Amino acid sequence: MTPHAIISGGSSGIGLALAQKLAESGHHLTILARDPERLDAARRALEGARQRDEQRILVLSVDVRDAPAVKAAVERGIAENGAPTLVVANAGIVIPHTFETLTPEAFRTTMDVNYLGGVYLVHAALPAMRAAGRGHIVLVSSGAGLLGIYGLSAYTPTKFALRGLGEVLRAELKPLGIGVSVVYPPDTDTPMLREEIKIRPTITSQIAAGAKAATAEEVAEAIVRGVAGKQFSIAPGLTLGALSRLGSLIGPLVNRWYFDPLIARSLKRQERP
Ligand SMILES: NC(=O)c1ccc[n+]([C@@H]2O[C@H](COP(=O)([O-])OP(=O)(O)OC[C@H]3O[C@@H](n4cnc5c(N)ncnc54)[C@H](OP(=O)(O)O)[C@@H]3O)[C@@H](O)[C@H]2O)c1
Repeated sequence: MTPHAIISGGSSGIGLALAQKLAESGHHLTILARDPERLDAARRALEGARQRDEQRILVLSVDVRDAPAVKAAVERGIAENGAPTLVVANAGIVIPHTFETLTPEAFRTTMDVNYLGGVYLVHAALPAMRAAGRGHIVLVSSGAGLLGIYGLSAYTPTKFALRGLGEVLRAELKPLGIGVSVVYPPDTDTPMLREEIKIRPTITSQIAAGAKAATAEEVAEAIVRGVAGKQFSIAPGLTLGALSRLGSLIGPLVNRWYFDPLIARSLKRQERP
């Protein structure tokens, strides 16, 4: 049987790097994203990466905020490529500004894409996985799903929400033979991060400055390894690994001893004439 992965946001960044690894390891792929040109470029790259010509690469233009459209796309993917062995809710956006400067619309859009988009995808794929009695679901959260970061108030709650969803799904789906992982990538060099860096608050950049961005390939590799090892939390790197295991213990310490003084110093500098 040829394994089949459905990936939202598989036309760019982490999702595309993961799709490439899965194409190389023999999967059929169904990729969901909006921009048809980027989807077409992804399809060509993935056809180049696949092991065998029989592997089908299906790309579908769909907005993950549109539940009926997501359902129709997933059903088409299943009709062409079979029940999914892997479903990856990865599509995401970030609008990085301080809480006071964000509009209500920014909060709603980010929740709709990052959280509800994942809910709709899993909901659409689950009946086929349940019938097959196997499969694995991956929810791509973020380091910001482990710790609240200055400037990311529209984004961070969506990533905490995915973590909560993952914990419930893990409990409900284990008896069905379906595995669940939540991924907490660090800053990763992708089009999303490159755009974020241009507009995010200075303090958000100062907080991020201590850590070198990972590559999309490194994160994709961690996901492949984590799924193979049936890991529930996939947190690449030492800091996020520690936070995912000991978050409620070390999170307050990171805030008190690192982030709070950094924010205070930076605001003082900005106030100076
Ligand atoms: N890069 C980082 O530093 C970082 C760190 C932690 C977590 N993450 C998470 O990793 C995931 C992937 O991020 P990335 O950095 O790889 O971003 P990216 O390069 O910008 O890719 C985002 C993907 O999501 C798709 N997408 C966005 N909005 C969509 C919508 N409404 N409907 C369908 N598809 C949509 C995009 O395609 P279209 O725009 O064409 O739809 C694209 O394929 C996100 O969930 C992000 O929050 C990223």
